[in-house]
Amino acid sequence: MSNASQYLIAPSILSADFSKLGQQVKAAEQAGGDWIHVDIMDGHFVPNMSMGPLALKACQQVTDLPLDVHLMVKEPERFVDIFAAAGADHISVHAEATPNIHRLLQKIEQLGCKPGIVINPGTPEIILEPILHLVHLVLVMTVNPGYGGQKFTPETLPKITTIRQKLDQINPAALIQVDGGISAQTVSQVAQAGAQVFVAGNAIFNHPAGIAAGIQAIRTELPL
Ligand code: DX5
Ligand code: ZN
Repeated sequence: MSNASQYLIAPSILSADFSKLGQQVKAAEQAGGDWIHVDIMDGHFVPNMSMGPLALKACQQVTDLPLDVHLMVKEPERFVDIFAAAGADHISVHAEATPNIHRLLQKIEQLGCKPGIVINPGTPEIILEPILHLVHLVLVMTVNPGYGGQKFTPETLPKITTIRQKLDQINPAALIQVDGGISAQTVSQVAQAGAQVFVAGNAIFNHPAGIAAGIQAIRTELPL
């Protein structure tokens, strides 16, 4: 990746104003967001709860952008059908959340969605090796999942580089996505480490000058 236009920005609606979700998703699309990132939290895998398939369906009605679903749930195998039916284009599941990750990634593919694998900051990248050939994206969490607006964790940077090198050998088309604390201040570090897709919630939806300014501020900091 050598051109800023090849990088993708995925606004996370976790930080959107839910009293006007449709308008905010549309604004993110018009401002050049590439995917809409939808965080599903169950209060078990992570301490917080967020939204479910109805919110995803609402997004589908207002945008043509790919809907990028991040499942932060225990037993994700119980829920992938529901989110595929509600309009998910990508479904990413945590390696820590199920003992049957190889089977689950194949199931997501069979449902017609692009499978992604997610690892938390405390999870070593070595566990990805047996499944890297099955994924469309690897999501490297740059905070511990559960809340928007947390501080970026720089210890995750070497992991991004190692995974990019592995993917270049095994599955070069697969993308590395980062999620958590991504802003105009942190995005160039993760891009240089090897990430291509940048999830941002707080930095976009809570930008003082609005959603478009939030996306633009991140885009401007991406390396050429
Ligand atoms: C965190 C979620 C993120 C969250 C990122 O658990 O997975 O997608 O929305 O939020 P910011 O960009 O505010 O750190
Ligand atoms: Zn997320």
